[in-house]
Amino acid sequence: MSTSDVYAASKGAAQKGRVIAETCANCHGIDSEIKIAGFPTLAGQKYKYMAKQLREMRASAKIRAGTQIFKSSDTSSLMRARRSNDFMDPFVIELSDTEIDDISAYYASLRCRAVMTALPLPAPKLENRCQICHGKRGIAKNSNIPNIAGQDALYLEQQMQAFWSAKLQKDDGQERCRSAIMEGQAAKLSDKDIADISLYYSRLPCDG
Ligand code: HEC
Ligand code: HEC
Repeated sequence: MSTSDVYAASKGAAQKGRVIAETCANCHGIDSEIKIAGFPTLAGQKYKYMAKQLREMRASAKIRAGTQIFKSSDTSSLMRARRSNDFMDPFVIELSDTEIDDISAYYASLRCRAVMTALPLPAPKLENRCQICHGKRGIAKNSNIPNIAGQDALYLEQQMQAFWSAKLQKDDGQERCRSAIMEGQAAKLSDKDIADISLYYSRLPCDG
């Protein structure tokens, strides 16, 4: 965790977060990690990044449920970044801001313990671009940018594909883009680039 993350995490009560995280345990684990293909690992993820994702997922879930109105004129990143997901919606829709902060503090405080079952791969050329933001070995310095080292390969691939197709969906009026930065990064990649870079990061140790 970066210094600012440690500061932020100590504000949210990680211990309270652990109680709420029991509802997340089936899919994200709680004291130890569980790995389900396509599901992200959260242990040791950046606090600020997670708290932002959860707020966006909650807004998306409410918009989808029809309990919050989406104003297309609202250009704030929260309203534009829509991240609705059938698995997550029921679990985030009722969370308060404090609960989101506490759960994020809890997961950020966990040491990632991914057991590497396969050897690291040589870095694809493309990695030069990613490391500017995600760090040299997939551990970001900036707390708004997620760590991607040791993350589930299928999850990474699905997110990259979602960024890639976000433009099309936007043209469709659906506004499902969750990050303009990443949409731009993924836009020119082939399916093979996406598969290669996802596998590469999934095999890097998540603890640096
Ligand atoms: C039924 C399974 C399930 C449960 C329960 C669940 N999640 Fe998730 N979660 C997922 C899946 C699947 C994704 C990937 C969604 C996507 O494609 O964007 C996800 C994504 C996330 C992300 C985004 C991770 C990232 O790297 O951007 C966060 C944060 C998260 N979940 C937190 C939670 C929290 C906190 C809870 C409990 C309150 C919870 N989840 C409960 C399945 C679940
Ligand atoms: C200019 C900075 C920047 C560059 C360059 C960049 N990223 Fe990102 N990336 C981000 C930010 C910021 C986010 C968080 C977006 C959000 O808040 O939803 C992100 C999110 C992601 C995610 C989602 C992770 C998760 O847990 O859901 C993946 C995967 C990813 N980036 C992969 C890559 C890859 C692969 C490259 C190189 C091809 C790359 N990024 C280049 C800034 C960048």
